[in-house]
Amino acid sequence: MAILPAIMKRESKRSYLNKEVPQAIVEELLEALRWAPSCRNYQPWRVTVVQSEEGRTKLASALAPGNEWAAKAPLAVIVSSNPKDDMNLGGREYYLFDCGLAVQNLLLQATEAGLMSHPTAGWKEKSIQEAFQISAEERVLCVIFIGYPGSIDDLDEETKAKDQAPRIRKPLEEWARFF
Ligand SMILES: Cc1cc2nc3c(=O)[nH]c(=O)nc-3n(C[C@H](O)[C@H](O)[C@H](O)COP(=O)(O)O)c2cc1C
Repeated sequence: MAILPAIMKRESKRSYLNKEVPQAIVEELLEALRWAPSCRNYQPWRVTVVQSEEGRTKLASALAPGNEWAAKAPLAVIVSSNPKDDMNLGGREYYLFDCGLAVQNLLLQATEAGLMSHPTAGWKEKSIQEAFQISAEERVLCVIFIGYPGSIDDLDEETKAKDQAPRIRKPLEEWARFF
């Protein structure tokens, strides 16, 4: 179980091959998500899997400017959740926390399967709710675009520059406290 290399290998890139993700792999991604921990095991996530031409077209039209690259992903997973499913411990919104854990499980399983998976928040929530019959009560939290990694040369210059930007993280001293 070499987890750290898998964590380090995962990255959010933007070019996809025009190649479908096999159903067995889609099921494994959902299985990884399903086994995420959640506060009092509430499992507040709801998932909408988008693979059909029709679904992908609807999703593409909800994308915010700058995220057009996502339209080429053969698979997208929409993660939503109803705030009413929160277990309301100390006024903290654990439904959001739990969904984040679930998304990371899916991202890591995708990495393991040789897929590129890119979480996004850049889309119109209302358009997604309407297109995929997600109730207005349910918040759309993340759309993960997934596919086999393609060539960076297939991207426009602006998107290519984003993909080529170095992946950086704040140094430990900025965010960790030790007592
Ligand atoms: C909740 C969330 C929303 C994001 N939204 C977008 C987005 O709309 N467009 C985009 O290109 N990347 C998006 N990203 C990707 C981040 O920019 C990326 O994770 C971050 O720059 C770190 O890069 P890495 O994932 O390669 O480590 C999002 C990531 C997360 C977790």
